[in-house]
Amino acid sequence: MSSPDQASGRNGTAETTTGTPLPPGPSGDPVVGCLRPFLRDPFSFYDDLAEFGDVVRWQLPGRRFTTLFHPDHVERVLVAESDRFERNVAGDFQVDFAPEGLLLNRGEQWRTQRTLMQPAFTMDRIRSYANPMVEYADRTARRWDDGQEVALNRDFSNLTLRILTKTLFDLEVGADGDDDEAVVAAARAINERVDVSRLTSFLPTWIPTPTNRRYRRALADYRERADGLIEERRHDGAGGEDLLSILLRAEGPDGATLSEEEIRDNLMTFMFAGHETTSLGLTYAFLLLSQHDDVLDRLRREHEEVLGDESPSFDHVPALEYTEAVVSESMRLHPPAHIITRRAKEDAVIDGYRIPEGTIVTLPQFRIHVDDRFYDDPDAFRPERWLDGSADERPEYAYFPFGAGPRHCIGMRFAMLEMQLVVAVLARRFDFELLSDPDPDVTAGGTHRPVEDVRVRLHDR
Ligand code: HEM
Repeated sequence: MSSPDQASGRNGTAETTTGTPLPPGPSGDPVVGCLRPFLRDPFSFYDDLAEFGDVVRWQLPGRRFTTLFHPDHVERVLVAESDRFERNVAGDFQVDFAPEGLLLNRGEQWRTQRTLMQPAFTMDRIRSYANPMVEYADRTARRWDDGQEVALNRDFSNLTLRILTKTLFDLEVGADGDDDEAVVAAARAINERVDVSRLTSFLPTWIPTPTNRRYRRALADYRERADGLIEERRHDGAGGEDLLSILLRAEGPDGATLSEEEIRDNLMTFMFAGHETTSLGLTYAFLLLSQHDDVLDRLRREHEEVLGDESPSFDHVPALEYTEAVVSESMRLHPPAHIITRRAKEDAVIDGYRIPEGTIVTLPQFRIHVDDRFYDDPDAFRPERWLDGSADERPEYAYFPFGAGPRHCIGMRFAMLEMQLVVAVLARRFDFELLSDPDPDVTAGGTHRPVEDVRVRLHDR
């Protein structure tokens, strides 16, 4: 197989790609392409695609795809040539839940908003989020009882949403332990709406299927919830350093201001993107810890050495190396955002194959993260692999749970800090007896959600 470096790179424009072969791939049905195997099981469909090589072409009705399986391709699409491959989730998958927000917008609007929001994610700001993160994790621990059965995904969703709204928006949602129904229902409906293993996900949102009706209703409630929170903040005064105040004051570098829709859509974007992913990261980390006593023992030894009797804080985090490795390893095996998509804005050539303009390029973390060319014993949960020097030998983009390049996750440092602190608080206090499937089925929606609750029985230590 040719090296990805042999691709024509920036010269791979429409003029020069004529005659360059299209990538190999499954021929599929002449009318519906690969729709049947894809709907049957999108994850094993990707296993089949990988048999064709690192650059694979396939089709669904009305959409042409190319899937890239090599880390060097990830680097080209997301980093080196990010201006030729745009994120177009709204257009490609008819996701319209917050079109004016940072996740879905594009071009100048995206650039202005990203610059505007950056001050909420500087190291100093992130440092100030550590105490509330620990405080809310403590409250979760106090609510949990010896012998109690809990659904980790639900409790972590509650916890991460509360942390997010407190730190980024300086708002409290609901009472301790109560779900914020509007947000939780919206997260579920958005995920269901973009679940590509459902045929209905390929229909426009205005067609009144049950999924679409649920989605529209949940979205309307969610918008109302966001408007209420904005109203609350306006009433209390928007003088703070939190993200919502920044959005309301809209102190762009060149006096940029945001419309009402942009403010609301960003509140909705952050409440969704910032809680659901981190909640899944924690759910999978504890799912794995519940099955690996050796890892849990080493983790606790680190907590004893670094923390002693103290609560974890921002200053402890650099020394919590094994805790970080546990979080990284969980996201390697279960990346909360499991696939990244881009649309080719012009013809490109990758690995000697033509990617025609308009092709949807997919970069599957859930496959690349377990490729045995880059990981020994790839399916094993071995946090040590992040500490034994082997990470330095791997291509940089063999691991990209937060994406890469200009549109990488703005909440990356926030999420890593939060997950490390929550693990440090909870792993010392409880043993986790797994009651549900050790290897749960997951949905192929916007996030890598387990289909069933991940249930454990808690035991005080
Ligand atoms: C484990 C936790 C998280 C994971 C795995 C994750 C993953 C990702 C990924 C893969 C992307 C890039 C998608 C793409 O390139 O198409 C992204 C973007 C984004 N994430 Fe996260 N994320 C996490 C936590 C957070 C948090 C805590 C926040 C908010 C505080 C957040 C807010 C966002 C936003 C707003 C974007 C869009 C950025 C842009 O386009 O400029 N995420 N995330």
